[in-house]
Amino acid sequence: MQGDVDLGGRVVRTWSYGGQLPGREIRVRRGDLLRVSLRNDLPEATTIHWHGVAIRNDMDGVPELTQRPVGGPLGGFRYEFTVPDAGTFFFHPHVGVQLDRGLYAPLIVEDPDAPADYDTELVVVLDDWLDGLRRDPDGVFKELRAGGMGSMGMARSALLGGDAGDVTYPYFLANGRLSSAPQVVTARPGQRIRLRLINAGADTAFRVGLPGVPMTVTHTDGFPVQPATADAVLLGMAERIDAVIIVPDRPVPLLALAEGKDGFAQLVVQPGRAAAPDPAALVGELSSRPVLTATDTRAADAVRLAERAPDVVHELKLGGPDRNYTWTINGQVYDPARGLPVREGQRVRLRFTNTTTMFHPMHLHGHTFQVRSPGGAGPRKDTVNVLPGKAVEVDFDADNPGQWLTHCHNVYHGEAGMMTVVSYVE
Ligand code: C2O
Ligand code: CU
Repeated sequence: MQGDVDLGGRVVRTWSYGGQLPGREIRVRRGDLLRVSLRNDLPEATTIHWHGVAIRNDMDGVPELTQRPVGGPLGGFRYEFTVPDAGTFFFHPHVGVQLDRGLYAPLIVEDPDAPADYDTELVVVLDDWLDGLRRDPDGVFKELRAGGMGSMGMARSALLGGDAGDVTYPYFLANGRLSSAPQVVTARPGQRIRLRLINAGADTAFRVGLPGVPMTVTHTDGFPVQPATADAVLLGMAERIDAVIIVPDRPVPLLALAEGKDGFAQLVVQPGRAAAPDPAALVGELSSRPVLTATDTRAADAVRLAERAPDVVHELKLGGPDRNYTWTINGQVYDPARGLPVREGQRVRLRFTNTTTMFHPMHLHGHTFQVRSPGGAGPRKDTVNVLPGKAVEVDFDADNPGQWLTHCHNVYHGEAGMMTVVSYVE
């Protein structure tokens, strides 16, 4: 719906799911049948995409490719599908640059068989925010296309190997709150909290950590990894990381630094009554710590793909920006008729090569691939950062027939052409 949302002392007019930011969490168990009725009160058509969930193709929410967009106002659509895997997911529209408004919410799939080795959970949804502050995402996209974005190429990050983003944001949010009015989570010292971190941003990677409190990373994009300890983790757009922390005996902020940009989001983990420390003083401390990226992790044995040589290898050369802010794959902008053919039963390898000066979080719909890493089985993921000048290979089993979008999850890059289709053929 369209309406006012309070970011914590600052009210903005935006588009949201049900007037809430983030939208209300959906929580189901693996194997459940999920039914969601979308009613569109927005002034334009929309869809819902269930990011990372390997569902049936006609529920995937990609306009024209898998469904007709749901016209507003007052259009409707019923999504209904079985949820095959446990993990931390989220959902968002797949029309235009709507994701850079307030249209996002967590989708948590519990594993009925997994023993919970933690006491409680905390879902943290991160976002970069500009909507309703004399700007909106459609206007920003127009500006980028006209070459008028003053910030382009200004934000840089060594961790991201080049440009950190194309858009300057006034605010960064954790669970819909400004860093000046953070959510405060009461906790007990010694309690084990499973963090479910989700980056719902459009153009911002986040460096996340709790200064002085180590995290044990357990999952990337919903799938288990061999546990790894970290002071800070990096999340590109649409990446998710689960990590367990042990609550200290003093308040500590969970900081999400906008990587290569100016600003941060936070929430406060609060045992007892002591005043929370000034987060600004801790930003420097967190930025000086080593950062774990998802590709540093290893798949847990239970979810590692069997060794197998690929039956087909597809090259995806990432290029841009060309004239009018065009971003390409293999020199082409998005054309659903010109996909990458695969056949059911094949082991498929995608090789992303980044010839640009900016990182691209590349996402594949309908599957969870395995990142190939030199030291063995990399993590299972659905979204992987490909850094400038680098190549990343991912493997998956073609076991879910359909037409599956694969694209950059920078919403402006995707809309400007950096999308193609993994296309099952007979
Ligand atoms: Cu978050 Cu095409 O997806
Ligand atoms: Cu990109």
